[in-house]
Amino acid sequence: MEYKGFFSDDVGSFMRSPVREIFKKVDLASIYSFAGGYPDAATFPIDDIRRISAQVLEKYGAKALQYGATQGVPELREVIARRYGVAVENVQITTSSQQGIDVCTRVFANPGDVILTTAPTYLGALQSFKSYRTQIRTLGAGDDLPLDNFALRAHPSQPNGWTPPAYEAAGGHGCQGQVSPAAKVKFCYVIPDFQNPSGETMTLEEREKLVAMAREQDFLIVEDSPYRELRYSGEPVPTIYSLAPERTLHLGSFSKIFAPGFRLGWILGPVELLDQIYVCKQSLDLCPPIFDQYIAAEFMGSGALDANLQKSIALYRAKRDKMLSLLEQYMPAGVSWTHPEGGLFLFLTLPEGFDTVALYDRALSAGVAYVAGSFFYPDGSHRNTMRLNFSFLDASRMEAGIRLLAEVIQ
Ligand SMILES: Cc1ncc(COP(=O)(O)O)c(C=O)c1O
Repeated sequence: MEYKGFFSDDVGSFMRSPVREIFKKVDLASIYSFAGGYPDAATFPIDDIRRISAQVLEKYGAKALQYGATQGVPELREVIARRYGVAVENVQITTSSQQGIDVCTRVFANPGDVILTTAPTYLGALQSFKSYRTQIRTLGAGDDLPLDNFALRAHPSQPNGWTPPAYEAAGGHGCQGQVSPAAKVKFCYVIPDFQNPSGETMTLEEREKLVAMAREQDFLIVEDSPYRELRYSGEPVPTIYSLAPERTLHLGSFSKIFAPGFRLGWILGPVELLDQIYVCKQSLDLCPPIFDQYIAAEFMGSGALDANLQKSIALYRAKRDKMLSLLEQYMPAGVSWTHPEGGLFLFLTLPEGFDTVALYDRALSAGVAYVAGSFFYPDGSHRNTMRLNFSFLDASRMEAGIRLLAEVIQ
């Protein structure tokens, strides 16, 4: 049967995740993988979950297994509101922060609308932006653009690969250059804390610059922050949401501070914006998983999350430090990398002329996996970069993997 005629126009814009394709090709246990963004399974609080699951069933009975409110169960919204100092009305629970990104794109962007982001940026966000047929524009080097330092710091050895548009107000919104003047900039998507993929953190000045620009040009900011609580050194920087609560949607996630299998996240934002997200989510999933939410509420509200987080931070800090010292020890001259203060990733820049996409099969045959950095650039540039995850492998496997990778590069 011929199926082609059945697909919607959107399907042509869907983008397969190269990361997931890598996972299909290899058995992760059989190689040294720096490719995924997997938390260390040792951080999953299995005993707490066993205990709290029984408590939840005891306390809520069938209610814990029933459909529930689209905004999320009140218990979880209240715990999150208290933790982050916002009103309960400003909290919407999501079925993970990937859904948060997708629902924001669906609610705010028409096909052809412009979404600003950094280069590089999170691949899963690019997948959402493309699937709704938006135009993706990156903030790069240039005097009139925010985040210029941010982009440059991520790539000390490289000029930014994309020619920045001279950003200008066209009827309040707009970008010069390839973008039609009628195209509206709806939001800027950033991961300000320990970015995926670069591991970099935006300074307060960069955040303020972005907020000033958003206010001047009248666009929203989607602040995706799944790693914010995983800080191993340095001082926390205020969230963009705290600087501009009237135009920021702050996406949080339980994936890296609890367990990704729960598929739970949240959005903090203005009530009027959350209301449309609430309506949109009715057609997506009716409600986030109820049993998971009651468990997460108890885990966060009782202090068990903070106790577990302390252990996770100590573990990941040691892993980050180990990875940095291994890179120092084994990488050939000319290779540079970022020095993240938190999160799960760092970003390598190889000398000009290297192609990490082409190198990949050789690395895989040698038994080591990474993600080519160009996948995180909307224009596919920066083929001499790669993302490495430092949370997944234990110290001895990490050392064996970095040694192999250095040999492949050499
Ligand atoms: C920046 C960023 N946003 C969102 C996600 C998705 O997280 P979740 O498991 O909450 O959907 C990830 C996952 O790696 C991420 O790195």
